[in-house]
Amino acid sequence: MDEKEKLIVFDTTLRDGEQAPGFWMNTDSKLKIAYALADLGVDVIEAGFPGSSKGDWNAVYKIAEEVKGPEICGLARCIEKDIVAAGTAIEPATARGKGRIHVFIATSQVHRENKLRKSKQEIIDMAVSGIELAKSYTDNIEFSCEDFGRTELEYTVEVVNAAIAAGATTINLPDTVGYRFPTEIEKMVKYVIEKTRGVGKKIIYSIHAHDDLGNASVDTLYAVGAGVRQVEVTMNGIGERAGNSALECVIAGITERPDFFPGIYTDIITEKIIPVSRLLSGITGKHPQLNNPITGRNAFRHSSGIHQDGVNKDKNTYEWISPERYGGCGEMPLTARSGQNQVKRTLDEKKIPYDPEDIGNIMARFKDYADGVDEVYDDVLVMAVRGDNAIPEYYRMDSDAFEPGIRNNQAYARMTMGRDGTEEQICGYGNGMIDAAKDAINKSTGLSLDIMGYKSVSTTTGANAEGIETVIAKNNGYTVRGVGVDCDTVRGAAKAYLDASNRMRYVLEHTSPS
Ligand code: KIV
Ligand code: ZN
Repeated sequence: MDEKEKLIVFDTTLRDGEQAPGFWMNTDSKLKIAYALADLGVDVIEAGFPGSSKGDWNAVYKIAEEVKGPEICGLARCIEKDIVAAGTAIEPATARGKGRIHVFIATSQVHRENKLRKSKQEIIDMAVSGIELAKSYTDNIEFSCEDFGRTELEYTVEVVNAAIAAGATTINLPDTVGYRFPTEIEKMVKYVIEKTRGVGKKIIYSIHAHDDLGNASVDTLYAVGAGVRQVEVTMNGIGERAGNSALECVIAGITERPDFFPGIYTDIITEKIIPVSRLLSGITGKHPQLNNPITGRNAFRHSSGIHQDGVNKDKNTYEWISPERYGGCGEMPLTARSGQNQVKRTLDEKKIPYDPEDIGNIMARFKDYADGVDEVYDDVLVMAVRGDNAIPEYYRMDSDAFEPGIRNNQAYARMTMGRDGTEEQICGYGNGMIDAAKDAINKSTGLSLDIMGYKSVSTTTGANAEGIETVIAKNNGYTVRGVGVDCDTVRGAAKAYLDASNRMRYVLEHTSPS
């Protein structure tokens, strides 16, 4: 007999995550994320707060209509207007037995007295009548004591007992302002569960933690240890203020440390975590911190020589978590800290020919170049091997004759390009003027580089500020960095892409790609 217990994953990326400044999404974007979350295997999608705006109601309704699989949940305060909005927005999901209403009311003293200005009994009465009204839409009712983390435990017990008696099926205990440490959460949650577990009723207890002290994901895991069987999380930990518990951290905790969570499983398809994280970043334009666990760009990158050597000998030294299990791959970027073994290994892997007898000189040049940059790309590696101090200017652009613009809703860039001793007038088209400039340069060079990263940094102030545009570009398995300086961003970006194209040609001329 399978004795394992399922942990319900309640994703609130589209509600608590989306409500944070900088993460607003339109209905189409929300729908894309909802499909991806369903694909990832989350059990509940909190799709929004339908009573907060017409736009959010529409988004929740659309998701409830189209996204099949997980339960679709709408958030509501314990007030009639919100509950009606949530009940009607999730109606298409309720019709197939998958609609949930999440009602909440604050229970801590500071919220009761200073925000809601209600007595303890009035709060309980509002919770009960909110749950009763929600039940006219669905039997699947989640109830949250907002600011549980700072609520008197005995009062929480009273409120939760009343909520269960009124018909709540999931009881959520939020540390709304991220006040508690993990061991406190563990004790508090255990206490409430013991004192309120409804006789003969199957109540799911849930945790919802915020990251104000940086503990949200660990609080969540400790609450699982204390008996909750639902975790409320967001992708990349986005959410109000410092954010929510991160889906990737909580799932990795459960997955990587089964000794800590014996008998617990989730239906998350872990290999889809990094792809969904990237989808969210692509849509919002906000990337997780480089060092974010699991989904940060550096989470599985090893840069120091000692670490690279260890991982090359046995992954378990520093890469004990398999990146592939989360849809990523381990990487060994070359930096000033990389050692000779990793440099040789990279040269072999990238088919960059070198004389093994000359490795001492190559390493000396490599260290010189590497000291000034965060990462060494393939153009600089080839320079270190060959002892070149500069990259040939295969392609040139006449900056004065550069003319970007938009005509009939179509972005264009006209320029004079020089190539192998000849000059020509070229016009490119694209989604924007930078894209059009890239098209024109591609027409002249015959190359087409994939842009992996683009950064624009202003070096002076004012409207006429000079900017440094940096492009990381890939082609044929090689990566280069191109830089352009100009007080016009579009022209600077074109210069950076042109620089990358020159560097790529240099790399391709001196390597033997397969
Ligand atoms: O943090 C919180 O308390 C919430 C509730 C609405 C559950 O987001
Ligand atoms: Zn929250």
